[in-house]
Amino acid sequence: MNPSQKIEVGVLGGTGMVGQHFIRFLRNHPWFEVTWVGASDRSAGKKYSEATAWRLDGMMPERIANLTVQDCKPSNHAPRLMFSATDASVATEIERAFAEAGHIVVSNSKNHRMEPDVPLLVPEINADHLKLIPLQQRKRGWKGQIATNPNCSTVVLTMALAPLKQFGIAKVIVTTMQAISGAGYPGVASMDINGNVIPYISGEEEKMQQETQKILGQFQGDHIEPLPAKVSAHCNRVAVTDGHTITVSIELMRKPSEPELIDAINQYRAVPQQRNLPSAPSQPVIYLTDPARPQPRRDVERENGMAVFVGRLRGCPVLDYKFIALGHNTVRGAAGAAVLNAELMYSEGLLD
Ligand SMILES: NC(=O)c1ccc[n+]([C@@H]2O[C@H](COP(=O)([O-])OP(=O)(O)OC[C@H]3O[C@@H](n4cnc5c(N)ncnc54)[C@H](OP(=O)(O)O)[C@@H]3O)[C@@H](O)[C@H]2O)c1
Repeated sequence: MNPSQKIEVGVLGGTGMVGQHFIRFLRNHPWFEVTWVGASDRSAGKKYSEATAWRLDGMMPERIANLTVQDCKPSNHAPRLMFSATDASVATEIERAFAEAGHIVVSNSKNHRMEPDVPLLVPEINADHLKLIPLQQRKRGWKGQIATNPNCSTVVLTMALAPLKQFGIAKVIVTTMQAISGAGYPGVASMDINGNVIPYISGEEEKMQQETQKILGQFQGDHIEPLPAKVSAHCNRVAVTDGHTITVSIELMRKPSEPELIDAINQYRAVPQQRNLPSAPSQPVIYLTDPARPQPRRDVERENGMAVFVGRLRGCPVLDYKFIALGHNTVRGAAGAAVLNAELMYSEGLLD
């Protein structure tokens, strides 16, 4: 399945926080090679190293440092496959322009996620939602396409719920403890977040509720039928650097035992594992038996940041069960998610 030579890719918004995560995540990728970076006209024309204040651990990759930043406009020089991490205020037009011009846009922005003909992908859960792409192209008259990945807290919830879907998900109540890196750079002011919890993240609760239903929904020929479960989210920002932790209470239609649920979590494998996609964790959802785990500081970097960790499964006196889950918000919730989406698309022949 490996491509005979590396596939050139571009990063729209490559100078920003998520853009830098793309650059870092792709630096040794076996299939993809970043050859093009786009940003605003403040950066276009400069070398990547001059336009970018590198905020991540480790050094800026030298080959990328020497690339000249381009305008985010489709041109002959832009590769066909484009990852997008552009500012949400401009992502709609930029991504559409690239898709219209024949590019495959794999976006991390929220802008197109809930459009009915745009796949909102978690490859372990809904690889079949890619069947929306031909419909999207017909409807919009595009040669290219747009596929998206979820919001950084939604991906943690949906990955944790995916193994439990077989028991019939009826109701979900989720409370998040979200890392400050999810707010970009410089994020939340230190005076606001140190020793504090901020019980509001604009738009986040609605995104978690709606995106979860779409991701876990069924492809029905020409649309996605949302999962008919009630989902209620409470979203909080906490003084953690990386890693969104969520606590979840769930009501199931069937009533499995606790060991059955833990077994379902640990046995869960899907298309990315079957196809051995390069960024796929070998076990996507990992149950930790230590009652004091998962913890963001101790667990978030494991499995290259691509797995979701679940723990403390126990009975819930209000719904049926409750548990905790953790995922890496800038890896599994952003750049890593989009790269895995592109790997899935390649494995489906959509990049040919
Ligand atoms: N931060 C996160 O953890 C996170 C997680 C999930 C999703 N997201 C989403 O990812 C996207 C990027 O977030 P971020 O935190 O990386 O933001 P950011 O650091 O502010 O970066 C924004 C990027 O967009 C570019 N840009 C701004 N205005 C532009 C314009 N008019 N034309 C073309 N490019 C323009 C910027 O280029 P310049 O450098 O030239 O200004 C920069 O490359 C957003 O849609 C956000 O909602 C972020």
